[in-house]
Amino acid sequence: MTETGLSGDPKRITSLLEQIASMSETPAPSGVTRLAYTPLEREAHAVFAGWMTALGLSVRTDEVGNTIAQRPGRKGGRAIGTGSHLDSVPRGGRFDGIAGVVAAAEVARLFVEQDLDHDHPLRFVAFAGEEGARFGQACIGSKAAGGMWTAEALGTVYDSDGVSIAAAMQALDFDPRQVEHAKWDRDDWAAFIELHVEQGEVLEAHVTSIGIVDLISGSTRFELTVDGRASHTGSTPMSLRADALCAAAELVLLCEEIAKDARHRGTRCTVGKLDVEPGSITTIPGQVRLAVDVRDVDSSRQRETANEVVSRGRDICLRRGVQLTTRLLSDASPVVLPAWIRDISSGVCKDLEVSYRVMYSGASHDSQMVGHVVPAGMIFVPSRAGLSHVPEEWSSSSDIALGIEVLTRSLRALDVQLTRLGR
Ligand code: GLV
Ligand code: MN
Ligand code: MN
Repeated sequence: MTETGLSGDPKRITSLLEQIASMSETPAPSGVTRLAYTPLEREAHAVFAGWMTALGLSVRTDEVGNTIAQRPGRKGGRAIGTGSHLDSVPRGGRFDGIAGVVAAAEVARLFVEQDLDHDHPLRFVAFAGEEGARFGQACIGSKAAGGMWTAEALGTVYDSDGVSIAAAMQALDFDPRQVEHAKWDRDDWAAFIELHVEQGEVLEAHVTSIGIVDLISGSTRFELTVDGRASHTGSTPMSLRADALCAAAELVLLCEEIAKDARHRGTRCTVGKLDVEPGSITTIPGQVRLAVDVRDVDSSRQRETANEVVSRGRDICLRRGVQLTTRLLSDASPVVLPAWIRDISSGVCKDLEVSYRVMYSGASHDSQMVGHVVPAGMIFVPSRAGLSHVPEEWSSSSDIALGIEVLTRSLRALDVQLTRLGR
């Protein structure tokens, strides 16, 4: 069938984004809160499944809550997929992940409404639990698809209320013991491309419409616990204190200093969470827990940074007479995305005369995880002022619509190329 235009429809995009954004624990001005493995996240998946069913596609939910819709291809064989995630960080934006799921829905609509042919099955995916905000562990659903979880491991990672990923899954009627069945089979998948908002300001600064991702940063996340001595703020002389928060303050600045020095330039190191005990204005802090997130596109530099924070952190704590303990939360390596998929999307941009640049991703993505079993690519669309994980996160529907056109054409080109190569 001949195509009548392969761009997403900006009005529909806005409306689909709004439908998902309305499912939030926090009201609109405070941003979107739809955390991993919560009933609200499942509601969003049900809405996506409804969109897919309305287009006549078959839809299934896998063992860990990833929703996967399929349109059969003329020849069958291995599938080509697209999609992203539907959960958010606390008080986050309405585009991170959602833009990629809405893009998948729009691609599906374009194929169905225009009755476009394709040889390979097309799959449209909403991954579960991508954000590391709740469990410290990013990409839970896509790591299962990548075959990177065991049932035991799901029982050892907890949120701040002490609920494990396994328990959170069970509360939603998923059986964590079945996690290994969610693994994607290499013989069943040919390629995957995820559209995502950039979450940085490179595209906007360079007045460029599309980013084509070559590298996705890795992350090492760990918790530092500083144990000092709690006591009365009035009666304890300054010389007799073991103030855990003063040591923690030095640790925060240490993270910044290490990431900014010449050896680590390009590394991002952040303390995004501090829990101070007992948290009273009249008690010297006795214990502080810090959550540290190290990101890098260079895997050795990523791990060296984490090790240096811990070793120099120990010296700080020794000098201050407090104790330091460390707990690894997660560790994911940077990933190089295959050049042949990038080349397909670059070719599409050239044909369309759309400006693009090849760039790395500072954030983690589901493609990083499914990339372990299926060749994956990523297309970025601009983010206003580069803001993300905040209520101000914004990408225009017309920019997303153009991204959808590049995505749709890339998927079609992949279909043709894979058929030509007999794959
Ligand atoms: C995912 O959004 C991340 O934190 O990189
Ligand atoms: Mn995301
Ligand atoms: Mn995110």
